Formats: sequence, structure tokens, C-alpha cells
Amino acid sequence: MPDMADAVLGVVDVRKSFDSAAGVVEALRGVSLQVRAGEFVAIMGASGSGKSTLLHLMAGLDRPTSGSIFIDGRDLATMSDRERTLFRRRRIGLIFQSYNLLPTLSALENVIIPRILEGADGRDGTQRAESLLCRVDMNNRMTHRPQALSGGEQQRVAIARALMMNPAILLADEPTGNLDTRHGEDIWKLLASLARQEGTTVVTVTHEARGASYADRVIFLKDGLSAGECQPGGESNAALVAARYAELVG
Ligand SMILES: Nc1ncnc2c1ncn2[C@@H]1O[C@H](COP(=O)(O)OP(=O)(O)OP(=O)(O)O)[C@@H](O)[C@H]1O
Ligand SMILES: [Mg+2]
Repeated sequence: MPDMADAVLGVVDVRKSFDSAAGVVEALRGVSLQVRAGEFVAIMGASGSGKSTLLHLMAGLDRPTSGSIFIDGRDLATMSDRERTLFRRRRIGLIFQSYNLLPTLSALENVIIPRILEGADGRDGTQRAESLLCRVDMNNRMTHRPQALSGGEQQRVAIARALMMNPAILLADEPTGNLDTRHGEDIWKLLASLARQEGTTVVTVTHEARGASYADRVIFLKDGLSAGECQPGGESNAALVAARYAELVG
């Protein structure tokens, strides 16, 4: 393992290929990166550049074809499936591009689910779940089922659910992809405050330069490879992120 003394997340020469009817797709072709504890990192790249694939591998939801993923210095490949599942539940909050809410449960119940999976009494989590739903401006939709929620509302429930267990690492796949400007801005501020005030390590995929400018560091992916990075240093620097994107990816 290379030197990553204070890295909470390490990706070392990761490749990922998929067999499909059309042949083999090389989604990742040798990506290496490190994320420090409490760092806020955004990953940008064109559609199909491998962003979701990378995030899924970081979450241990899939295995790399070659290369390694380290979390807290542990190689995910050395864990059993059960160990990896428990590790993910306890350490990682996940916001999927497709939300993955359970259709038969209300918004509030969906947010509480991670606690129930841990064997806790769901009722004990009600207060925290309610306060998280307030934090994402969903306080007036708590009893709605996903099918009665708009895409952006479902996305906000998924964000609240990811925070339910107070994860050390938050992995988010286009968390504002379906949100209007105001709610999107609120979520970027929330992610930045999780990293800066609460020490959560945040890795988020996004297509939005303005959102990415809240991050400490933006990593650009192109055709399954890292194309470079930049440090925006504040929300007013969306133009810098957009310019680097155009230079490295566009
Ligand atoms: N399960 C799979 N089977 C076959 N090919 C796949 C699979 N998952 C991803 N791919 C392919 O791998 C490449 C990277 O996909 P990925 O979902 O990581 O892209 P992305 O950067 O997240 O794109 P987007 O911005 O559209 O979400 C794409 O060409 C995609 O078609
Ligand atoms: Mg994706």
C-alpha cells in the first residue's frame, strides 16, 4: 500500500471491466486516488466516464477487476461479504444516483431503516430521522411514500437516510441531480458543513461546477482514467471548476 498516512479512503490502480452483449466495457482503466479524513472531494466527468462505477467500488458494493480499495487502511478485498456489509452499514452513508428508496415505506420509515438493519428499535430513531428530514426541507412530507414524492423529494429523503447513522464517510452520486437551485444549494452547504464542522469525509459525484466548487478538491475523470484535479477554494470559484473541466475533460 502506498504512503497514505492520513488517508481514510485509498484507491490504488483500480480497473473495472464489464462483460456486455456488445463486448467488454472498460469502465475504469487504472484509477488511483486518496481522500483524507474530513476532506470534501467532488468527482466530475462526462457521462460514462466511470464515476458511479468508482463510487460503487469505494462502497464495497462491487469488486474491482484489479487494483485495491482501502478504507481506514483495510483492503476491502480481505473482508468477507458479511464483514463488508457490516462495515458499510456502520461506516458509510450512501446516496445512490437512483435513490433506492423502499416503495412500501413512508419517507420517515425509509430514513429510519438503517437503524432497524442494525437491530435497534426503530422508534428510538424517530426523532433523529425527523430532524434529518427537516434538514433537507422535507418536514411536510414525512408520511408520503416514495411514489407520492417528486424526484427531488425522493432524492432529499435518500440524503437524510444516508445521514441516519452519522457515517464517517459519505459517498454521494449526483446528490443534487434532481434538485432545483435553492434546494441544490442547501445540499451543497449541508455537505460542506458535514465535512468542515463534523469531520465527515465526503466524496460526491456531480455534473455541477457550482456545487463542486464547495469541495476542497475536485477530481476529473475521463474515459475511466483520472485526468487531473483542482482546488476550487470556495463557492465563488465555480468558473475555475468549469474552466478546468473544459480543459481536462471537455
Ligand atoms: N453493469 C454494467 N454492465 C456493463 N457496462 C456497464 C455496467 N455499469 C457501467 N457500465 C458501463 O461503464 C461505463 C461507466 O459507467 P458509469 O455508470 O460509471 O458512468 P458515469 O460516469 O457514472 O456516467 P453518468 O454521468 O451518466 O452517471 C459506461 O460506459 C457504462 O455503460
Ligand atoms: Mg453515474
